[in-house]
Amino acid sequence: MEIKKVGVLGCGLMGSGIAQVCAQSGYQVVVSEINDELLNKGLASINSALTKSVEKGKLSQKDKDTVLSRIKGTTNTNDFSDCDLVMEAVIENMELKKKVFAEIDKICPKQAILATHTSCLPIIDMAMVTTRADKVLGLHFFNPVPVMQLMEVVKTIATSDDTLEIGKAFGKSLGKTVVVAQDTPGFIVNRLLMPFLLNAIRMLEAGVATRDDIDTAINLGLNYPMGPLALSDLIGLDTVFFIVNSIYQELKDPQYAPPPLLKKMIAAGWLGRKTGKGFYEYNIGR
Ligand code: 3HC
Repeated sequence: MEIKKVGVLGCGLMGSGIAQVCAQSGYQVVVSEINDELLNKGLASINSALTKSVEKGKLSQKDKDTVLSRIKGTTNTNDFSDCDLVMEAVIENMELKKKVFAEIDKICPKQAILATHTSCLPIIDMAMVTTRADKVLGLHFFNPVPVMQLMEVVKTIATSDDTLEIGKAFGKSLGKTVVVAQDTPGFIVNRLLMPFLLNAIRMLEAGVATRDDIDTAINLGLNYPMGPLALSDLIGLDTVFFIVNSIYQELKDPQYAPPPLLKKMIAAGWLGRKTGKGFYEYNIGR
């Protein structure tokens, strides 16, 4: 099956990045939000990312206009009725995701692939509220979406081989390197990443080293682009908390149990870059 038109539900941090990358790869894109305010915010962030590329001389003004002309923003999910692949990137709430899947299953053509961008929730539970569990899979991007090279393609026990191949080919068409994971908590990356982030927070909490020394040690000692505390701020501490809790509930493995410092920071509203304060302080909007 040839994918020409892609639907993206959710135009937040990840959804807007996904819509941008799809449009830059030549797909027609419909991207939705629950209201005009959130939609305009998401579309503005795509515009601003493309403007930065033009300013750096990496994209011509004409190409920017072409990319933007491929993106249609909407608040009406009926606009997904002629999409070949629809990806949900709404918040990580299973009840909401099931509701969204049941809705798009009714709206989309019978042959359309339905994908979730969950980073940790069981995909089979979403597939089973549709009439096409064989055409449901996970497509997991990494933040910042336009920059990160990887896409995890996640197969449930009900995903057909055809759907898996379409998902892999789609990821490659976006210029991503694709890895395949089973529908297990945290897939590959978050299963390995989250204990690392939590151990860094536990280390800070125990006074083993300072914030800057922990991050510098990993940055320079392992050549990671950023240290674990800076990376937690980039991901969002609430998102880290949600992911580890969800993996912990499934596996009951104590290495995923959130440390008290993480909980306290969330209670204080220090969620990382998005709120201007996490382990570091940020100028919001930059
Ligand atoms: N959006 C779009 N582009 C961005 C960006 C953003 N938020 N942040 C940086 N970039 C671009 C810059 O414009 C620049 O592009 P250019 O090469 O065309 O000029 C390029 O990325 C490099 O940026 P900088 O020079 O400003 O800074 P760095 O070299 O330090 O790179 C970084 C920034 C790409 C964020 C790098 O530090 C990095 O790779 N960090 C690790 C990110 C990571 O691990 N992400 C995965 C998180 S886990 C996840 O997403 C899974 C989820 O389920 C939790």
